[in-house]
Amino acid sequence: MSVVAVVGGQWGDEGKGKVIDLMAGSASMVIRAHGGDNAGHTVVNPLGEFALHLVPAGIFNPDALCIIAPGVVINPESLDRELGALQQRGVSTQGLRISDRAHMVMPYHMVLEQAQESLRGKDAIGTTGRGIGPAYADKVTRTGLRIGDLLDPSVFRERVLHAATQANQFLRSVGREPAIDASAIARQYLSFAERLAPYISDVSGLIADAVDRNSRILLEGAQATLLDIDHGTYPYVTSSACTVAGLCQGAGIPPRAISQSIGVYKAYCTRVGSGAMPSELLDATGDYLREHAHEFGTTTGRARRVGWFDAVAARYSARINGFDNIALTRLDILDEMDSIQVCVGYEIDGRRVDQFPSVASVLDRCRPLYEELPGWQTSTCDIADFEELPAEAARYVGRIEELVGAPADIIGVGPARTQTIHRSDPWSGRV
Ligand code: GDP
Ligand code: IMO
Ligand code: MG
Repeated sequence: MSVVAVVGGQWGDEGKGKVIDLMAGSASMVIRAHGGDNAGHTVVNPLGEFALHLVPAGIFNPDALCIIAPGVVINPESLDRELGALQQRGVSTQGLRISDRAHMVMPYHMVLEQAQESLRGKDAIGTTGRGIGPAYADKVTRTGLRIGDLLDPSVFRERVLHAATQANQFLRSVGREPAIDASAIARQYLSFAERLAPYISDVSGLIADAVDRNSRILLEGAQATLLDIDHGTYPYVTSSACTVAGLCQGAGIPPRAISQSIGVYKAYCTRVGSGAMPSELLDATGDYLREHAHEFGTTTGRARRVGWFDAVAARYSARINGFDNIALTRLDILDEMDSIQVCVGYEIDGRRVDQFPSVASVLDRCRPLYEELPGWQTSTCDIADFEELPAEAARYVGRIEELVGAPADIIGVGPARTQTIHRSDPWSGRV
């Protein structure tokens, strides 16, 4: 079987989009399985630079089917805009299929999220503001609207009216203007439905057939393990399951069909939004890395918090997912450093800790324990063979492999497809 899951090993933005785009050239199917347009996956390929939010990063292979699976929450306005932008740049979207089971992000989800974030005050999560949390909350309380519901306008209108009444009640209860207009929402969403309807179907048969035929299937993770609703740094997480297991659930892929799980890690760390980040750099080195690496969010434009590679967190997420190997991206960003730190443990109240804490307030108190490695001060961005890397860079990669417990079979030395060192066939892993 050849179902490869590509999952973020840190707090997102590790370069999952690049890895998917690279591998999608030889895939038959690429599936986005969870999250929504909170994701921002940047792809740089011969067609240009693209920021994808809902459309799978396999869309540049016209022969692959790209599926938005039941576990995704879709903002139809945002999807419609994304499809239009791709088409305008000559990218065919004919291979796209949208599961009728996928839930929708409704305009009131964004309004509710804004209200909830401001009620949290200093404890705000720092969400992307895309209504993701309230959309998943409605799904779990079984009041959500699915994209397939758009295909039956009269039932859709009725359900929007019910949901809008409840949203207005909530807004009133927290002293806000009850600003949700059900008929405007129904009109607007039914107009998107006209353009999206050709893509919407029950995709379960397509996926099952591809699994049965042994086709090459890629599962595209969004967000990342440390933002996972169960295993991440709760409550500073997103609202979906971001792990390999979460992807199986969201896509409807049997767990036994997974042939390989690739963990994507940056050669350092970033995080957007609130929550502890023990190896965060709040000094000139952090500012240098942020500017040099253009660490600003693809979705919100916010400055990303930057820090050294956190091996405690990285090993935790490798274990949760059972990564077979890792894609270590952005090694080139460290090219100019004269020395590099890796966080190999934490200290809490004078005690050394090697396990990633489960409680946010404990993680907050963790101080990083660093190991220092020499830099290489040579450009790596044109290197295609591992053997050609400067010895210090190879040593850095080797140390990360040891600490994470998985081989770095893909190494990124730039955003383009060609700026990649392959140490195995990505579809079969190392033999
Ligand atoms: P994603 O959300 O995991 O897909 O990652 P993002 O696209 O949000 O952020 C990763 C950024 O790093 C994008 O701008 C990519 O083009 C870029 N990128 C990916 N791999 C590499 C690499 O190896 N080196 C460099 N310099 N940039 C990379
Ligand atoms: P990709 O797929 C980085 C973060 C937000 C916030 C928290 C909750 O590009 O890696 P949400 O809007 O999901 O309720 O916000 O999660 N977050 C991301 N951070 N990359 C992402 O996606 C993210 N998606 C959500 O910044 O801290
Ligand atoms: Mg991103």
